[in-house]
Amino acid sequence: MIKSYKITTLNEYIIRRQAEYPYAKGELTRLLYNVGVAAKIVTKKVNKAGLVDILGNMGNVNVQGEDVMKLDVFANETFISSMRASGECCGIASEENQGIITFDDGLSRDANYIMSMDPLDGSSNIDVNVSIGTIFSIYRRLSSRGSKAEEKDFLQPGRKQVAAGYIIYGSSTMLVYTTGNGVAGFTLDPSIGEFCLSNPDIKTPAAGKIYSINEGNYIHFPQGVKNYIKYCQEIDSQSKRPYTSRYIGSLVADFHRNLLKGGIFIYPQTRKSPTGKLRLIYECNPIGFIAEQAGGMATTGEQNVLDLVPGDLHQRIPFYTGSKNMVEKVKEFLEKE
Ligand code: AHG
Ligand code: MN
Ligand code: MN
Repeated sequence: MIKSYKITTLNEYIIRRQAEYPYAKGELTRLLYNVGVAAKIVTKKVNKAGLVDILGNMGNVNVQGEDVMKLDVFANETFISSMRASGECCGIASEENQGIITFDDGLSRDANYIMSMDPLDGSSNIDVNVSIGTIFSIYRRLSSRGSKAEEKDFLQPGRKQVAAGYIIYGSSTMLVYTTGNGVAGFTLDPSIGEFCLSNPDIKTPAAGKIYSINEGNYIHFPQGVKNYIKYCQEIDSQSKRPYTSRYIGSLVADFHRNLLKGGIFIYPQTRKSPTGKLRLIYECNPIGFIAEQAGGMATTGEQNVLDLVPGDLHQRIPFYTGSKNMVEKVKEFLEKE
């Protein structure tokens, strides 16, 4: 008796879910397929980073004023060329590029979708072998098909996302994404080079025990954040310390752990980043869409991240996301102040 083929690959899953969208003509399917291809190429490079001398700075600095690690550039170029090759994407906004990148060949100009991305999230962790990631967000274009993508295509509120996801290059490589009908997680099986369905319907616990924040900035936090941290550190009636602090310094890794276990991630205003550090378009919106689809929340502390109308491609906002009860709690502390 032939052993049944138990795994569901990313492509099988995307095609199966496509059947749920009567209007879907396979365009988004092809786009997501190419995200998977780019993720496998970057995984190979990440796994060998220490060997093929792609560590260390390229000596230049990106639009954010940060040293660009070689892997940042490699990941950026890999996702850009894979999206161009898909023929379903007419342009990209990337953390690594000041302005939008438009794909001007005939096929791409006719495409229906645009992508915003953080090609390599957590770059400060590249050299020390700590998990890093890629974050992506897909929208239907506003500009007319057949023309070049325009900046307005990328300044849509997060609520308009067609799909969003991240890849985490950790002890294993995982791809987690949503198209607005729940969140699915896939783990790369390098022996067959396929992303295999490992977390079919991710729901984040309403409450958790983990709070993630860079307490090095404590003295500059808003008072409400300081009060929430103290609340997390108080001994409760059973004289137990209910919370634990975990901070990796890669948004994707901190968020992914909290998503599965329950927890809250906070990057508030600090002296160095007076409007917050994380970028609305290619970090907070995609992560926020996933958080909401998994039953969690994402807020600036004042309003839901997905309702914001972006002002510019690299706009930064204060970011609170994760388990619903925990985000509601920190909002209470913020509103009291
Ligand atoms: P990126 O490497 O894409 O610039 O993102 C880094 C971000 C995010 O991944 C992480 O949560 C945050 O920066 C960490 O910032 P601090 O080092 O200031 O805590
Ligand atoms: Mn990032
Ligand atoms: Mn980045």
